[in-house]
Amino acid sequence: MQRGKFLTIEGTEGVGKSTNLAFVRDWLASKGLEVIVTREPGGTPLAEEIRSLLLSKRAEAVDETAELLLVFAARAQHLAQVIKPALARGAWVLSDRFTDATYAYQGGGRGLSKSIIEQLEQLVQGDLRPDLTLILDIDVQLGLDRARQRGELDRFESETVSFFEQVRAAYRQRALAAPKRYALVDAGQPLSKVQADIDSLLTRLLA
Ligand code: TMP
Repeated sequence: MQRGKFLTIEGTEGVGKSTNLAFVRDWLASKGLEVIVTREPGGTPLAEEIRSLLLSKRAEAVDETAELLLVFAARAQHLAQVIKPALARGAWVLSDRFTDATYAYQGGGRGLSKSIIEQLEQLVQGDLRPDLTLILDIDVQLGLDRARQRGELDRFESETVSFFEQVRAAYRQRALAAPKRYALVDAGQPLSKVQADIDSLLTRLLA
């Protein structure tokens, strides 16, 4: 049985991840592929509990290394329970965020060292990496204005513009460093254009 493909979608806040994730899911399903849609942090009951711990605002300052370890603890559980079994049976896995978010938020945003993240990535994932990562890229302020219209902000959404500038820069840097593994999509375009771009990327991936 051929292993399924592993796709991830990334971006800063308010970039249109949910809408485009649904577009990718429907696109793959229309080709008759089995698609599992999941998210990080989360994707299993235990990992969803860790997500709540990570996202809820609290009076206690959250240590950056504690945050990093929680993210990878959730990921280990998600990989074992959902991602690896699905790929092994030939399903495609589409995840709303994965380890690139750790490089962007904990690395870029919080300033943690890339080599520490690489070590944890190796420990938790072994050689498993996404086949393709779509990075939806948008002006930070524009995205935050959109995200803030959705209601109450979580612990990450409450960060400063300069935090998100660092997150965006880290995503862009990763995309530019490995253009085969990443597609940087201009999410500031009208939705029809964004989706036309995604359509051609997926067509190439399937070819
Ligand atoms: P989202 O579902 O709205 O994208 O929220 C998830 C939040 O978690 C988002 O603000 C980014 C953050 N996050 C990290 O900081 N590191 C990670 O590794 C992941 C997967 C998410």
